[in-house]
Amino acid sequence: GRAAVVIVAAGSGTRLGYGLPKALVPLAGRPLLAHAIDGALGSGVADRMVVVVPPGDTELTALCAGYATDGAHLTCVPGGATRNESVRAGLRALGPGTDYVLVHDAARCLTPAEVFTGVLRALRAGASAVIPAVPVVDTIKSVAPAAAPGIAPESVTGTPERAALRAVQTPQGFRLGELLRAHESAASWTGERAAAVTDDAMLMELAGTEVFVVPGAVEALKITTPMDLLLAEALVANGYE
Ligand code: C5P
Repeated sequence: GRAAVVIVAAGSGTRLGYGLPKALVPLAGRPLLAHAIDGALGSGVADRMVVVVPPGDTELTALCAGYATDGAHLTCVPGGATRNESVRAGLRALGPGTDYVLVHDAARCLTPAEVFTGVLRALRAGASAVIPAVPVVDTIKSVAPAAAPGIAPESVTGTPERAALRAVQTPQGFRLGELLRAHESAASWTGERAAAVTDDAMLMELAGTEVFVVPGAVEALKITTPMDLLLAEALVANGYE
């Protein structure tokens, strides 16, 4: 079976505070997207790649064109207003002949090769859906608006058992046909229902598919805040790439 990687890079990056699309923000002097593409190519899991960029973008598109010129089988398509729409655009751009797809966040640009290969290995072993994950270090609580106002805005409604929780990363791997079906059925969702879809595996869970979990890596952090970028700079400076 042939595999492809879809890298979603259509986010605005407002939380990084750079006034640039996040995938253009420099890390060790190069855009996050360049690190992400290099990481995915270097893992060797796929020869075909689709990069999803912000609608109207020119800079990231030019970066992708440079890879294509260098011989990488890489195409670039415009994304949507939500991550979910961007993934859908990327999946639709994959032609026939792709059996497996690894959907990856450009923001997780330091993901080690072993995470890509571990996900693909589980797909080849028969999984329809595979996610990389790490144990959570914090105790996680659910909250709701506080009943007694004037003290604090929220209070706790529950504490899920920490040992059973995982922080989920990308690339998330799927049989392409099944993920496409799940995405097409979610394409008409709006409002809170659409906003609640924060990863691709969730759509497979809703379809009743078993989602397998393989080891992720702490250095596969999603670069979201200025502190994440500091940490990523330190990781690169210490040879983590
Ligand atoms: O916003 P969030 O941190 O969840 O974004 C995760 C990934 O999804 C990022 O790599 C971002 O570029 C991508 N994304 C996208 N299209 C959007 C929003 C986010 O491709 N509309």
